[in-house]
Amino acid sequence: MSNVALHGLNKSFGDLEVLDNVSLEIESGSFVSFIGPSGCGKTTLVRVVAGLEAASSGTVLVDGSPPAVARSHKRVGLVPQQPGLLPWRTVRANAHLLLDINRAANPPDAANPNTLLREVGLGDFMESYPHELSGGMQQRVALVRALSLHSPLLVMDEPFAALDEITRSEMRLLLNQLVEGRGVTVLFVTHNISEAVALSDRVIVCSPRPARVVADFNVDLPRPRARDIEDDSRFVELCAEARHALHGAMRP
Ligand SMILES: Nc1ncnc2c1ncn2[C@@H]1O[C@H](COP(=O)(O)OP(=O)(O)OP(=O)(O)O)[C@@H](O)[C@H]1O
Ligand SMILES: [Mg+2]
Repeated sequence: MSNVALHGLNKSFGDLEVLDNVSLEIESGSFVSFIGPSGCGKTTLVRVVAGLEAASSGTVLVDGSPPAVARSHKRVGLVPQQPGLLPWRTVRANAHLLLDINRAANPPDAANPNTLLREVGLGDFMESYPHELSGGMQQRVALVRALSLHSPLLVMDEPFAALDEITRSEMRLLLNQLVEGRGVTVLFVTHNISEAVALSDRVIVCSPRPARVVADFNVDLPRPRARDIEDDSRFVELCAEARHALHGAMRP
């Protein structure tokens, strides 16, 4: 389980201010989505939490440690927007990639990627190469690669953005099944309001750059979330709430 605490976080690239005094407490085991206009700083925010980018000021703690330390202990899994599979490695070898690097840091309870590959429906494709897979299948391998570490924190930056609507909704269902009940904390960036609501326990709305938190609400929909969650009247209300907050934030 992982707890993420951001306090007075600022980030600039030269003169460009990207994050403006972001403070958040994220509870262990919760699924938190970030939505906000393009270019506002969402990727920067999650990269700082994942230890890939340093903050300009303020503090970030992942389970009480600086992100770079959490990352070096393989306590953060990252699923980027593009699956980033190595073309010369098979599906099985790509799924094992993070476990093959710096083995000494592997957690004792690391998951068996072969089991996860079967769980996401890729059992018959273990010896295939990435170019032999569809986009959705490649993204499932990237998901397995990140989950294989059993890291308590999973950071996902628009992982389904390149997928068609049908595959995307299948991936949502799959992700809910994979993380529900496993105690993983997930930080999830998306542009898609219904995706954020369907997946999350909490939705955070960011302002245009520099990103500030302009709305932060709980998604009080029951779990496990079924395929027909989007027909629920509460789901529709929550999407409207998120949309209004987002549009409100974009008004000058
Ligand atoms: N490494 C970098 N060097 C300089 N500027 C950067 C760097 N990374 C991001 N930026 C700038 O920071 C701002 C925020 O970028 P970021 O990628 O965090 O936005 P975003 O909210 O994820 O956008 P999108 O929704 O389009 O993915 C942009 O103006 C971008 O040009
Ligand atoms: Mg981004």
